[in-house]
This record gives sequence, structure tokens and C-alpha cells, in this order.
Amino acid sequence: MFDFDKFTQYSKPGPRYTSYPTALEFSDAFGYAAYLDKLKGQDPKSPLSLYFHLPFCKNACYFCGCNVVFTSKEDKKERYIDYLLREMEILAQHIDTSRPVIQLHFGGGTPTFFDAEQLGRIIRAIKSRFTNFTGDAEISCEIDPRHINEEQMKVMSDAGFNRVSFGIQDFDEKVQVAVHRVQPYEITKAAMDLARKYNMVSVNVDLIYGLPYQNLETFKKTLELSVSLDPDRFAVFNYAHIPWLKKTMRKIDETTLPLPAEKLSIMRYTIDYMESKGYKMIGMDHFAKPQDELFKAIEKGELHRNFQGYTTKGGADLIGIGLTSIGEGADYYAQNFKEMAEYEAAIDAGRLPFERGIALTEDDRIRQYVIMELMSNFKLDIGRFESMFNVTFSNYFSDALESLKPFENDGLLSITPKSIECSPTGTLLIRNIAMAFDAYMHVHAKSDKTFSKTV
Ligand SMILES: C[S@@+](CC[C@H](N)C(=O)[O-])C[C@H]1O[C@@H](n2cnc3c(N)ncnc32)[C@H](O)[C@@H]1O
Ligand code: SF4
Repeated sequence: MFDFDKFTQYSKPGPRYTSYPTALEFSDAFGYAAYLDKLKGQDPKSPLSLYFHLPFCKNACYFCGCNVVFTSKEDKKERYIDYLLREMEILAQHIDTSRPVIQLHFGGGTPTFFDAEQLGRIIRAIKSRFTNFTGDAEISCEIDPRHINEEQMKVMSDAGFNRVSFGIQDFDEKVQVAVHRVQPYEITKAAMDLARKYNMVSVNVDLIYGLPYQNLETFKKTLELSVSLDPDRFAVFNYAHIPWLKKTMRKIDETTLPLPAEKLSIMRYTIDYMESKGYKMIGMDHFAKPQDELFKAIEKGELHRNFQGYTTKGGADLIGIGLTSIGEGADYYAQNFKEMAEYEAAIDAGRLPFERGIALTEDDRIRQYVIMELMSNFKLDIGRFESMFNVTFSNYFSDALESLKPFENDGLLSITPKSIECSPTGTLLIRNIAMAFDAYMHVHAKSDKTFSKTV
């Protein structure tokens, strides 16, 4: 039986580990010259993964934790396209743009806030700059179902987009009103139908649990309606409530948020329900059909986690283009300016709009491997780890192993000389487990205004 009260005691602020070290450790210590050196040092044969941040939205959803610029002004969008194109031009001076591109992702904000003609223009510019898209490249876009029309879907389909993900969040009207995102089922269904009509290989949806007024009963209905749309993948995110960083979240009445025990019961139910409907859990907050390539990747130990979630395409150098976007190489993370004026000023000066980042030390890389393995596969093969890094796991991580003892005693994970493996309940607390290997946690542990709560 699942002892909800006991496990809610584990609820504390913690990273979601879309990167390790987390973005809190990015700083000016990793400067522009160091970044350019990293770009220059990349293997010219290694593939590229491109992330374009298209930040605009018209209205704020109160729960939104994304980097968004709220506007309804047409000239701002045109101006942004102009800067994106110029950023690519500068980038071409620092990397070989004929390297194979295996992944292209449009994230936001709401990329489809750009109309069909504008999207077409951005895509043409990308393809004329990056000339070597592989035949099986994954080309994807995040879409708000309230802002998509047939012309836009056609432009993306013609350009080779093969994956889309739609934000649903929750179907319950009371929840939708409370988060300022009213989105009737019919609108989401019409958007899904459009994606199928234009032969998207993978159609994904995003849900969030932990929103105002949600409870197990309301979320059951949201799950049923979502499954009836037959998506290929689901993201079911734990609501990250960080009102000290995101002003719009202050409009949410905190007394209406479900308590940790309710959230755990929602997640526990979601896992069982999704399995009964033929989906399997991948990593922390994703579900997919068993024939999905992500499962083959898990079997081969090749599932990776990055800023866009889980992917089979590891080993590529990720380049972030646009405001606030984050890039990732084998031993660094780099983030662009978050303020539009600074972003534009850098490009006007002929520089990449890089603001800050981090060069990974050997210790960072060791911990990054362990944390990402746990976050992706819920287990760690210690033999494989030791042969990769040439260190003895039990010596290197004696502190972490000590701090994981309560988890072991509570049946959340098992530790043997060969492996660490989470139990099904342990997967719900994977962020807490990963935190044991995070060398920076002690710096942030005292503050509860850094990360969102793990449960
Ligand atoms: C950029 S949005 C998706 C595209 C589009 N703007 C939309 O909302 O439909 C990315 C996703 O992040 C998730 N998200 C946003 N804010 C979040 C938060 N505070 N906690 C957890 N997930 C969040 C939502 O599920 C959202 O669909
Ligand atoms: S959730 Fe999506 S549509 Fe809502 S404000 Fe955030 S980015 Fe925009």
C-alpha cells in the first residue's frame, strides 16, 4: 500500500534537472571568449540539435513558468525574426553550419503566434543556413491549440516538421478559469485533427497536475478526455510554483492548490491509468506507447534528458538560438540574454547574444551522468559508470549513499554493488533521489525560494 502521508514528508524544494549543474550555477565566470572556444573546439563531424525560442504570447496563463514576452504587436514579431536571422548569420562565423542537423525544435512562448508566412520565412532561413538536415531529423514545434490554423500546419508539414506538442494542461472549466486559460475540448480536438491530417508522425500533449482546484476526481476526467484524443506521447508535468520568480503566478490563490498528498495520489493514479490504456512511463513525467522509439532507447541505455524533455538523440551539440535559449555541449551550458534590449544590442554589435553559462568540471560531468541516468532510466548501472569515469562509485559517492539510506529503508530504492534501482514509488520521488548526488544542493538547501517543491 502506498503511504501518502509518509511520502509527502519528502516534499521539499528541488531542481527538475533539465540540466546539471542547474541554471542557478550559470554565471559570468564562463564568459564570451570561453564560449566561442567551446564552439570552435566542437568536432566538425558531430551532429547538431537546434533549439529556436519563439517567446511571444498574447495572454498570460497564470501558471506559466516559461520565458515569455507578452505582446500583441505585429512589429515586435517582425523585428524578432530579423534578429533571429542575424543571430544565425553570426553563428555561422563560429560553427560549421554544414554539420548534420538531427533535431530542430521550436519552443516558446507560443511559436504559432507567428503566422504561416512568418513561420515559413523563419524555416526557410534556417534551412538555407543549416544545409544538412538528416533524412530522419526530428523536427518539432510546441503549439497552443488556441493559436493554430491550417495554413500554419501546412507550412510546417511542407517544411518537414514531423512532431508537434499541444498544451492542454487541464480540461476542467473551473481549473481553466482559475489559471486564465479557457480552452474548450473542441478546440484541442480540432488542433489534434489538423496535426493528423498533415501526417505528423508524433502528436504529443502536455498536462499539468498541481493546478488550482484540481483533485483526483477532476484529473481523472482530464485524463480520460486526453486519452480519447489518442496522442502518441504525454507529458504530465508537476506544477512548478515559483511566484517569487514569475509574477503571473502571484495571481493564483495558493489556498486553492492541491496538497502534496492529493498530488501524489493524482500521479499514482495517472501512472496506473496510463498503463491500463497502453502507455508506459518514461522518465519522470512522460508517457508513450510501447512501440515508441524512446523505449528502444531505454533498453539500449540511450535515453537522454535535456531542456526539451526526453530524447533518443543524445551526443549532439545543442545550440540555442533566440532570447533566453540554452545550448549544451559535452562540457558546457550556455544561455542567451533574457532581456530583449540586451539580446538585440549584442547582435547589433556583431556578437552572439550569449550572456552566461558554465564550463563543466570533471566532478560536474560525473554527477551529471549519474543524475541524468536516474532521471531518465530510474536506475544506474554502477559497472558501466565505473568503466566510463574510472572511479570507484562507493568511494566517490559515500556521502550520497549515506544520505540515501532513509530512501532505502522506506522501500523507495535498492542499492547493490552493481546498481541503484528505484521502486515504482521511488520514481515519484526521483528528484529527491537525484538531489543526493548534486554537489551544489548544500548552497541552496537553506532557501525555499530557489526551486519548486518536489511533491
Ligand atoms: C511553452 S509551453 C507550450 C506551448 C504553448 N505555449 C502552450 O501553452 O500550449 C510548454 C509547456 O510547459 C508546461 N508548463 C508551463 N509552465 C509550467 C509550470 N509552471 N509548471 C509545470 N509545467 C509548466 C505546460 O504544460 C506547457 O504546455
Ligand atoms: S503556457 Fe504557453 S500559452 Fe500560456 S503563457 Fe505560457 S507559453 Fe504562453
